[in-house]
Amino acid sequence: MIDEKYYDYKVTAAGRVNIIGEHVDYCGGKVFPAALSLCNTVYVRANGTNKINLSWTTLPDKVSLDLDDLESYRHLKYGNYQAGSAMMWKNAGHKLVGCDMVQDCTVPFGSGLSSSAAIEVSTIAALATVAGEKFNPVEVALLAQRAERDFAGVNCGIMDQYASACGKKDHAILLDCKTLEREYVPLDLGDCSLVIINCNKPHNLVTSKYNERRAETEYALSALQAKLEIGCLADLSVAEFENCAHLLDGKVLDRARHVVEECDRVNKATKAMRSGDIAYLGQLLNASHASLRDLYEVTGKELDTLASLAQSHPACLGSRMTGGGFGGCTISIVKTEGLEDFKAFVSKEYEKAISYAPTAYDASVGDGITVTKL
Ligand code: GLA
Repeated sequence: MIDEKYYDYKVTAAGRVNIIGEHVDYCGGKVFPAALSLCNTVYVRANGTNKINLSWTTLPDKVSLDLDDLESYRHLKYGNYQAGSAMMWKNAGHKLVGCDMVQDCTVPFGSGLSSSAAIEVSTIAALATVAGEKFNPVEVALLAQRAERDFAGVNCGIMDQYASACGKKDHAILLDCKTLEREYVPLDLGDCSLVIINCNKPHNLVTSKYNERRAETEYALSALQAKLEIGCLADLSVAEFENCAHLLDGKVLDRARHVVEECDRVNKATKAMRSGDIAYLGQLLNASHASLRDLYEVTGKELDTLASLAQSHPACLGSRMTGGGFGGCTISIVKTEGLEDFKAFVSKEYEKAISYAPTAYDASVGDGITVTKL
C-alpha cells in the first residue's frame, strides 16, 4: 500500500492502443492512437539530496540514481527508463531535483500497450512537477522518445509517447507525425465496443526486428529520392507510389507499399469514424492486419490466430494487431450485445490452437498526463 500522505504529487501517464496507422509514424505518416485508462502512476516528493530514490509497487527492487551520473544506469534491468528520462529532461536544460518516487504500473509489460512510454512520460512529468517547473506535454513526449531510443535502444517513432502524454478521455488522436499537428476525434463506436486482447506470446527480443523494419523503410525512401522530390514515404499517394514502385524490389517494395497504403487507410478510417461508418472502419482494420502480416511481416502465428478468430465471429466488425507487433495485443470492434460471447469464443478457440489462453483487458480511453497535488 502506498502512503499517499508521504508524497507531494501523484503523476500519471497512459498506455495506449493504436486504432490504425501502424509502422508509419517513423515514415512521417498520420497515426490514430488513443490513451488508455491503464497507466503508470508516479508518487513523488523532493528529498533535498542529489539522488532519485526509486521503488516500485510491483517489484522488490530499490534503486538510487545519482543525478550527476545518470548515464551510468543505462544497463540497469529496472530503473534504466527512469534514469534515461531524468537524463533527457536535464540535458534539455531543465531543473532536476533529488526526490523519492514510487512507481505503480497497470499497463501490462510486453503487451504492446506502451508501458515503457507510460513510464518515461510520467517520470519526466513527475520530475518537472517536483522541481516546480511547468512542462509542455509535447516536449515531454519528445524527450521520452529520446530516452526510449537512447536507453532502451528502440529507434521508435513518436506515436506512443505522444499518446501517453497528450491523450484525451474518450477521444482518439489523429496525429500527423511529420508536423506533430493533432486533432482529437471522439472515439464513438455507436453500438460497438473496442476490445483489447493480449495474445500472451512469451516475451522475446523484438528491438532488432523493429529497428530492421525502420531501416528498410529508410532504404526505400532513399532509393525513391534518387528520382522523386519527397521528404518521407508518407508524402506519396497510393497512385504516385504505383508509378514509382518499379524503383524498389523484394521486401523493401513490400515494406514501402504497406506504409503508403496504411497511410491511405488512416485517412479513410478517420472519415469513417467521423461519419459513424463503423462497418467500414472494421474492414479497414482487417485490411491493416493483412498488410502487417503479408507485407510488413510483423505479426506471427499468435497474433494472426487471434485476429482471424476475432474476425470470424459474427459480432466482430474488424480486428487487427496494435502497436509494434511480433506479440502483444489485438484490438477488435465488437457489437456490444455480442461481447461476452465474442470473448468466450476467441479465448476458447485460441487456447485450442496455441495451447495457452489470451487475456482480454478491461480498459477505457483515458487522459494523457495527469498531475494531482496530494
Ligand atoms: C512501437 C513504436 C511506435 C510505432 C509502433 C508501430 O509501438 O514505439 O513508435 O512505430 O511500434 O506503429
